[in-house]
Amino acid sequence: PTITFAQATGESTEVTVEEGTSLMRAAVTNGIEGIVGECGGQAMCATCHVYVRPEFASELPSVSDDEDEMLDCTTAERTDASRLGCQVKMSGSLASIVVDVPSDQV
Ligand code: FES
Repeated sequence: PTITFAQATGESTEVTVEEGTSLMRAAVTNGIEGIVGECGGQAMCATCHVYVRPEFASELPSVSDDEDEMLDCTTAERTDASRLGCQVKMSGSLASIVVDVPSDQV
């Protein structure tokens, strides 16, 4: 699968990852700016906040209570498209997902 991270500046980066890799891990490994992943993927920091493009929304795993709570703590505004990058793992149906990186993360 590939993930495209689109920055607020208009720049975007496509990375190729293994199945099961989270959006946060993929971003951190590839040095994508604006995704911090401070808690290491425990749904406890909200510094991996991303906006998932609507065309992929129906393929996403559902939001757990922990994720829902942390999404109320994001630096950039929470929208219907908001997810924690560490809680979205790549699988077949999400191949070639596109996410927008918030301009503020911490
Ligand atoms: Fe901390 Fe996702 S990395 S909530």
